[in-house]
Amino acid sequence: MATTEAKKKQQQQQQQPKTSLLSQGLIGLTWIILFFFLGSYLITESWTWGYRGKWTNINTYIPQELRLYDGSDPAKPIYLAIDGDVYDVTLGGGWYGKGGSYHHFAGVDAARAYVTGCFQDHLTHDTRGLTEEQLKGIAHWKKFYDRHHKYHKIGRVLHEPIPEDAPIPKPCKTAVGQKP
Ligand code: HEM
Repeated sequence: MATTEAKKKQQQQQQQPKTSLLSQGLIGLTWIILFFFLGSYLITESWTWGYRGKWTNINTYIPQELRLYDGSDPAKPIYLAIDGDVYDVTLGGGWYGKGGSYHHFAGVDAARAYVTGCFQDHLTHDTRGLTEEQLKGIAHWKKFYDRHHKYHKIGRVLHEPIPEDAPIPKPCKTAVGQKP
């Protein structure tokens, strides 16, 4: 009897340090995680040490929200969208900010205008009726923003579906030629 109890005690003693080691490990891990994120925020003002990739560009915007970032307010970042993808182009403020040559592209998904050159009339994501070549042109511009060292993708814009009976935007007379 005494031997069984002694054995039990021994077993308990053996188990105890294991459990506390595990809980200590968990507490340690929690601190490491906390320091990782807090440290990142304090040093880089980003929770992920400045990492920008497919795990961080998960924001969604409605068109009205996107409008708030059209470069008119110098205190805010500048966003633009092309065919649904939203990019932060704040570092291109000279182009997209107020008075910039491409200010009309900021705060909106103007995919159509990129390939038609209708910078007044085609500031829309409506790509219906575009040629294969023009659609390739849009893909080209997306790549431009994706690969640009100063810009980065931050999410997607949530467009309302275009009603089937909505008229396709007409060609404009003021079209700017494609970049030479
Ligand atoms: C459909 C027509 C056009 C579109 C959509 C377009 C769009 C753009 C965009 C998005 C940029 C990049 C700005 C940045 O760095 O973020 C750019 C740059 C530039 N664009 Fe245009 N552009 C067009 C036509 C033209 C034309 C006709 C010219 C000249 C006659 C021109 C001259 C330039 C120059 C010089 C730059 C800066 C240099 C460079 O990045 O190559 N663009 N354009």
